[in-house]
Amino acid sequence: MTKKVNSKTIKLVKFYNLINYNLIYNNQAINRYKKDFLEISGKKSESLQKLKRSITNIKNCELKENATNIVFSDGNPKSKIMIVGEAPGFNEDQEGLPFVGRAGALLDKMLAAIDLNRKNVYISNIINYRPPENRRPSEEETKRYLPFITKHIEIISPKILILLGSTALNALIGNEVVISKARGKWIEKKFGQCKASVIITFHPAFLMRQPAQKKLAWIDLKMIRDRILKLKI
Ligand code: URA
Repeated sequence: MTKKVNSKTIKLVKFYNLINYNLIYNNQAINRYKKDFLEISGKKSESLQKLKRSITNIKNCELKENATNIVFSDGNPKSKIMIVGEAPGFNEDQEGLPFVGRAGALLDKMLAAIDLNRKNVYISNIINYRPPENRRPSEEETKRYLPFITKHIEIISPKILILLGSTALNALIGNEVVISKARGKWIEKKFGQCKASVIITFHPAFLMRQPAQKKLAWIDLKMIRDRILKLKI
């Protein structure tokens, strides 16, 4: 027996189709519904998905075993500005996105101060899983994840690479120099085929503990703003 469909149901179905019901109502914040790298196509999207898969396939990793989610990236994969932090904290682990906690709120303010936001930068971390108790990642863990972030940078291919804090500095540039000396200087560095202008600045979590250092971070931010203008990004 065929069921009679009344006009109210038809209208409802039309409405759901119109607002793309399946895509929006998946109980997460609206700007989080997007499927991985839907906004980019082709090789870059494939490479990012492949990289993400290879990180999720890591074996015998205490970080992965204790984490809720992988924290891969946020922002615009087409951006020519990439930011690399240390490792996810509690909020990032819960949401699966980098810099969504208190340090993230300060990072957003720092970006806004030079007219940037998450739609025009790309953000990731040295380590993709939250270290238990938010401890600093060990040297061994940093070494293990280094090939992933290096590949990540190569895929995104930024013109400007901003390293936040000493874990990112030590992992990607070297252990020889302390952040107080390394910050606020441009370094030209190659990551595979990608040649980027790299600048190191203080991590927002450090700035929350040492607000007096914000004036130095502001100098770094202005250097970034000037370079963006110079490179016409
Ligand atoms: N600190 C980081 O270094 N990365 C995050 O994603 C959050 C806090």
